[in-house]
Amino acid sequence: MRVVILGSGRGSNAEAILAAQQAGRLGRARVVQIISDQPAAGILALGPRFGVTAAFVDPAPFKTKLEGEGEARFIAAVNACAPDLVVLAGFMRVLKPGFLGAFAGKIINLHPSLLPSFPGLDSIGQAFRRGVKVTGCTVHAVTLDVDGGPIIDQAEVRVDPADTLESLTAKVHAAEHALLPAVIARLGGR
Ligand code: GAR
Repeated sequence: MRVVILGSGRGSNAEAILAAQQAGRLGRARVVQIISDQPAAGILALGPRFGVTAAFVDPAPFKTKLEGEGEARFIAAVNACAPDLVVLAGFMRVLKPGFLGAFAGKIINLHPSLLPSFPGLDSIGQAFRRGVKVTGCTVHAVTLDVDGGPIIDQAEVRVDPADTLESLTAKVHAAEHALLPAVIARLGGR
């Protein structure tokens, strides 16, 4: 199962996926390409470390969505990898019908809350400020409904009275680093 990872940030989840692959815990899944919409994103530095091609693809002209020329460039770049699965690991752009249609049924996203609670941005902060006792992370299929596609799997994280936003954030990230590689391995069939 050929996997392409899209990300905008530091890439700790992409790193967890690649570490799982190195350790033989990714089943039949194999990461073939990392793509970022941010030229200086930490996720791109994982390429040389793990021997995977990593590339910036220009997302212009829009800032928060992938549409128009940028969308066409992303479709071409991802298509060239002949992916079976496209993993959004901290890819901070809204996908539109062009990209979703090009890879229909093949795109999954990681979100740092127990969806449908706390969609959108700053989900860990939203959950912390609301005072929930349990939060976590979700892997879901990507549809036009942002953060609203069918849920594939979730992991719970308990919020302890002593937790700060920082400690809760660390716990949610740790849960993500376990959940996402496990889901990918399962989708590939071991
Ligand atoms: C992760 O916490 C992921 O759940 C979140 O971005 C972070 C990426 O971290 N994604 C979203 O909020 C998507 N709406 P990483 O770059 O270290 O993997």
